This record gives sequence, structure tokens and C-alpha cells, in this order.
Amino acid sequence: MHNNRTTITQYIIEEQRHVAGATGDFSGLLNDVVTACKVISNMVNHGALVGVLGSAGQENVQGETQKKLDVLSNDVFLKSNEWAGHLAAMASEEMEAIYPIPARYPRGKYLLTFDPLDGSSNIDVNVSVGTIFSILRRPDDAAEPTEQDFLQPGTEQVAAGYALYGPSTMMVLTTGNGVNGFTLDQNIGEFILTHPGMTIPAETREFAINASNMRFWEPPVRRYVDECLAGREGERGEDFNMRWIASMVAEVHRILTRGGVFMYPMDEKIRAKGQGGKLRLLYEANPMSFIVEQAGGAAITGRERIMSLQPEALHQRVPVILGSRNEIERIQGYHRES
Ligand code: AHG
Ligand code: MN
Ligand code: MN
Repeated sequence: MHNNRTTITQYIIEEQRHVAGATGDFSGLLNDVVTACKVISNMVNHGALVGVLGSAGQENVQGETQKKLDVLSNDVFLKSNEWAGHLAAMASEEMEAIYPIPARYPRGKYLLTFDPLDGSSNIDVNVSVGTIFSILRRPDDAAEPTEQDFLQPGTEQVAAGYALYGPSTMMVLTTGNGVNGFTLDQNIGEFILTHPGMTIPAETREFAINASNMRFWEPPVRRYVDECLAGREGERGEDFNMRWIASMVAEVHRILTRGGVFMYPMDEKIRAKGQGGKLRLLYEANPMSFIVEQAGGAAITGRERIMSLQPEALHQRVPVILGSRNEIERIQGYHRES
């Protein structure tokens, strides 16, 4: 009954056959990333039974208190991906400096960036969390890997994906050839292709933003949300629905499933902290923008396309506005006008 199902391993190997001169390095790397996400999924599922909930009692480089699962997931990613010889270095939201592959292992031609546990404020309340990752090519494989190697625009990504630890565990992946979704079959420990060719409807009547920041918003964002809230009687002539899960992975997954808009825009509070945005360019904004664009949606900072930004620092933060194409174009228009 199950033997005509496509596993993620099979999918990755079949994709590799379409790439002339592929060595299997990239497929091997993706498989290790998948394994890491399965291990994290298992920890998340067992929660309090295995003592992984709660705070780790320390701060990361972003000044955020780390949860135990932030630290454990980060470690799982390092251990799963350091040994096989596909990578030169890794960079994570949870580590101040890059992680060059230790000298005891061979070094490869790829770089991996990740947010090991996204939405970590949701862990202790048993709401969906996820993992986000991005794969880049190493610019020059002669020298010792440096932070500079990671500062590539999102358009250079070779692959990006996320795992969503929700009612079911899913993996959503792009290698620049559309977006495919896989569901973890816990009984056999394999991700199965369940959502081939995911696309985001261009039209939507649903948006997501943390409205507690309303008083800090800039005029174009305020205008867009005001018009949505005005509903059928207002400018838009239609009622809108609102969601806020506080896990970017879960919000993007909803948008890939039924459309919508997700915003963590620039605001006065963020500006006062001297930050460029809330979300991180290399671990969150770029990989999610790649997936969203590959599914037919759009991702901008307000004025510019996120994937065209030239990163200036490893932990750089940017405003993020992404989702259904027509709505994103409208919001971009409001930014241009203001
Ligand atoms: P992380 O848990 O990796 O730090 O990311 C959380 C992010 C994102 O997933 C979410 O959309 C947003 O922060 C939530 O922010 P608020 O708590 O301000 O709503
Ligand atoms: Mn995150
Ligand atoms: Mn995180």
C-alpha cells in the first residue's frame, strides 16, 4: 500500500540526476539536514518527558534568553552536519561567530546557515515551532572560511527549507525549482512527499502582524492594516481575517497553504534599538523569501526585494513583508508613495 510513496531521500536523489556533473555532495548535505530535523522533531514531540522545556539560563548574541531547545537544536545541527565533508562552515542565529568545520573532518564546498528553533517563545506553551535553513556555495575553497563568505545576497542561495513541528512534522524545501512539502511518517522515520508543487494564491483576505506594535508602525504599514480592518465598508470593500502565531515558520506555512500576508516591518521601537528589523536576514528572511518566491509569492523589506539585499553582517536584521503577490505589490506601492 505504501510502496508507491516518494520519500524525501528518493526525491533528493532523483533531483540530483537532473543536474549535470552532480557529485552527490549536495544530496548528501540535504540528507544530513533532514536527519537533524528528525532529531529535533523527536525532542520537541517528547517535550517535558525528556526535560527539554524551559530556559537555558543564558543569552545569545542577539541578547535574547535562550531556551534549552534553542541550545540543544543548535547542537544537533552542528553534530549532524559537520562530519560528512560537504560543508566548509556553518552559521547560526544562536552562535556569535561562524563555525568552521573542525580540522578532523574534510571540508566541502557548501555553507549552511540556520535558525535551529524558530518561534521559541512557543515551546513551553506547546504551540508550533520550526527550523529554518539555507545552503550557499562557498565563494573560494582555497582559504580558511570567514564570515565574509556568508555575506551573499539571497539570490545566491542553492537551497532553502524549513521543518515545521506542528500537529504533524513537515519539511518544505526548494532548490530553486519550485517548492515541495513532505510529511514525517513517524512509524517509518521518513518524510513522504505529500505537498508537491506548493503555490501561494496571488489574492488573499488574511494578514498576520503583531498588532501590539501598532503605535510604532510607519505610515505605509498603518495604512495597509487600517484598510484591512475597515473591511467591507472601507477602501478595500472586503472583510479581512487576522492571525499571529509568533512562529515565522508556522505563519509562512499557512501562507503556502492558503495564501496571506506576513509582516514584521520596521518600526520606531526597532529603530530606537538601532536595529534594522526584527528578523534575521541570513537565518530567517532570505530562506523564507526564497521559498515564498519559488511558490509564486513575493518578499520585500517595504521598498526593496529581500533577496537582492547585500548582507553587511552575519546577524543583520531586516524588515520582512511577504506572501501573496498582489497584496505585497500593494504594500510596496504604499511605501513608494509615502
Ligand atoms: P526566534 O524564536 O528564532 O527568535 O524567532 C521568533 C521570531 C519569529 O518566528 C516570529 O514571527 C517573531 O519572532 C515573533 O515576534 P514577537 O514575539 O515580537 O511577536
Ligand atoms: Mn526565528
Ligand atoms: Mn530561533
